[in-house]
Amino acid sequence: MIEWALRGARLLQFASTLVLFGSALFLLYGYRSGAPAAAPPPEREPSWIQALLLWTSLVGVASAIAWLLSESMLLTDTWTSWRDVLIGTQLGMVLALRAGLLALAALVCVGSRLRSRLSRGLSMGSSLASRPARSLYAPVSILGGLSVASFAWSGHGSIGSGSGSQVHLAADVLHLLTAGTWIGALLPMSVLSVQALRSRSPTEAADVARGLARFSFFGAAVVLILILSGLVNSGFLIGAGRWRALFATGYGIALLVKVALFGLMLILASRHRYRTTPALQRVLAERSDGAAILRQLRATIIAETVLAFLVLADVAVLGTLEPPAAS
Ligand code: HEM
Repeated sequence: MIEWALRGARLLQFASTLVLFGSALFLLYGYRSGAPAAAPPPEREPSWIQALLLWTSLVGVASAIAWLLSESMLLTDTWTSWRDVLIGTQLGMVLALRAGLLALAALVCVGSRLRSRLSRGLSMGSSLASRPARSLYAPVSILGGLSVASFAWSGHGSIGSGSGSQVHLAADVLHLLTAGTWIGALLPMSVLSVQALRSRSPTEAADVARGLARFSFFGAAVVLILILSGLVNSGFLIGAGRWRALFATGYGIALLVKVALFGLMLILASRHRYRTTPALQRVLAERSDGAAILRQLRATIIAETVLAFLVLADVAVLGTLEPPAAS
C-alpha cells in the first residue's frame, strides 16, 4: 500500500515539475513571441497561464513532501523518521532542494500576479501590462529546468561510480530536460487549441499555428535526444547482453510499456508536424474557416497529452523497481 502512495507522489512530482518547466519554456518561445506587429499586445497574459504556472509549482512542493513522507515510511515503517531521511540521505536533500526551487517559482508567479494587478490599478498602459509575461516565463523556466534536472540525483540515474556513472548522469539530465520540453508544451497547446476552436478568433488560431510551428522547430532534436539518452539509460540499467531481462523482469516490462506509449506519442506528434500545422497555416493564409482542422487538432493533442501522462505514470512505477543491472 505505502509503495503505491510513493508512486502516486512520484507521479504528481514528475507531472507538475515537467509541466511547469515545459509550459513556461513553450510560453517563452512559442506563445505570441514574434507575433506580427499588427497583432495587439495582450492586455495581460490570460489568467489560465498564471494559474497553470502557480498551481503546478504548488503541487510540485506538496508532492515533494508526500514523496519524502512515503519514502520515510517505506524505509523505516514510520513517517516520523522524515527528518533523518531529509538530512541523512541524498534523496532527502535533493527533495528539499527541489521543493525550495518550486516554492521560489510559486513566489515568482504570485509576484507577477500582484504586479499585473498593480499595473492594471495604476493603468499605466498596455506596454507595462504585457511586460509581466516575459518576466514570468523566463525565471519560471530556469527554476523549473533546475527542478527537472534534479531528478537525475533522486532516481537510478545516480547509480554506480567511476566515469561511466558521469555519462549516465549526464544522459539522465538530458533525458529529463527533453522529456520536460516535449510533454510540458502539450498542456498549453491543448488549452490554446480548445480556446481557438471555442472563440473562432483568427488571432487565437494564429497563436495555435505559431505555437505548433515553433515547437516543431525543436521537435525533431528533442525526440532524437530523448531516444538516445533513453537508450543510454537502458544500457546502464538493463546492462549490456542482458536484453532478455526486458521480457523477464518487472522493470523490463515497465520499460517496454513506456517505449510503446512513447511510440504512440511519436505517431501523433508526426501528424501534428507534417499534416495539421501546414493545413492550419494554409487555411489561415487563405482566411478560410479553420474549425475542422482545429477540431481534429483538439482531439489529437489531448490524446497526446493523455499518453504523456501515462508515460509518467509508468516512470513513477519504473523508478521504484530494481533494474536488472543492479541485481
Ligand atoms: C515522452 C517520452 C519520455 C518521457 C516523458 C520520459 C521520461 C522519463 C523520466 C521522467 C525519467 C526519470 C525517472 C526517475 O528519475 O525515476 C525517465 C527515465 C528513464 N527513461 Fe524515459 N522518458 C521518455 C522516453 C524514453 C524512451 C524512448 C526510452 C528508451 C529508449 C526511455 C528510457 C528511460 C530509462 C531506461 C530511464 C531510467 C529509469 C530509472 O530511473 O530506472 N525513456 N524517463
